[in-house]
Amino acid sequence: MNQDQLKQAVARAAVEYIKPKLEANSIVGVGTGSTANYFIDFLAEIKGLFDGTVASSDASAERLRQHGIPVYDLNTIDNMVVYVDGADESNPRLHLIKGGGAALTREKIVAAVADEFVCIADESKWVDCLGAFPLPVEVIPMARSQVARELVKLGGDPVYRQGVTTDNGNIILDVHNLRIEDPVAMEMAINQIVGVVTNGLFASRPADVLLLARASGVDTLHKPLPIGD
Ligand code: 5RP
Repeated sequence: MNQDQLKQAVARAAVEYIKPKLEANSIVGVGTGSTANYFIDFLAEIKGLFDGTVASSDASAERLRQHGIPVYDLNTIDNMVVYVDGADESNPRLHLIKGGGAALTREKIVAAVADEFVCIADESKWVDCLGAFPLPVEVIPMARSQVARELVKLGGDPVYRQGVTTDNGNIILDVHNLRIEDPVAMEMAINQIVGVVTNGLFASRPADVLLLARASGVDTLHKPLPIGD
């Protein structure tokens, strides 16, 4: 299987995973990217089983609407049964790096609302230690240079993502050469920098479940219990 086939397989598995959780009034959170796009396409086949969706990007909202799936403003909904999204990296604690598609801020907001966050990824995204994938950071445009200097102090090499404006009107700095041993601490440290909107570490709120597509099949991995439980 090539990577594209693995993405399709895991997107199909995600639809099967969420199906028993859906009721007529359920809202499904939908992520962004090529794996999420496959999920949207398969979700359309069961659109009669739930009420509608909240999308983490304008692009995903557009794709959902093309399938005739209702898309709601997050402010108009009370609860969300599940959020399904891809990732750029996952470690065994299901801490993630996200934002390769520049949608990290809305992704983090929608993930925060959902009862359950289901990450869907092919095996190339599985790592022991986060950071080989450059960490995306969404930044208010006027703060770009200042934030870049602060990111260097944290040990990274920030690179301005040319030609990209987020759905929120901001820019992205991709931080290279970080070996992220403590993702929760790094997520908090970067978010403390004035001018940062958010960063692509999903560690304070990791995924609850990772569906990981390998050539042998799709594995279902659960977030480990906190140490001491
Ligand atoms: C977008 C994301 C994506 O989930 C991530 O980049 C993975 O994308 P793909 O499914 O295309 O590999 O975080 O901001």
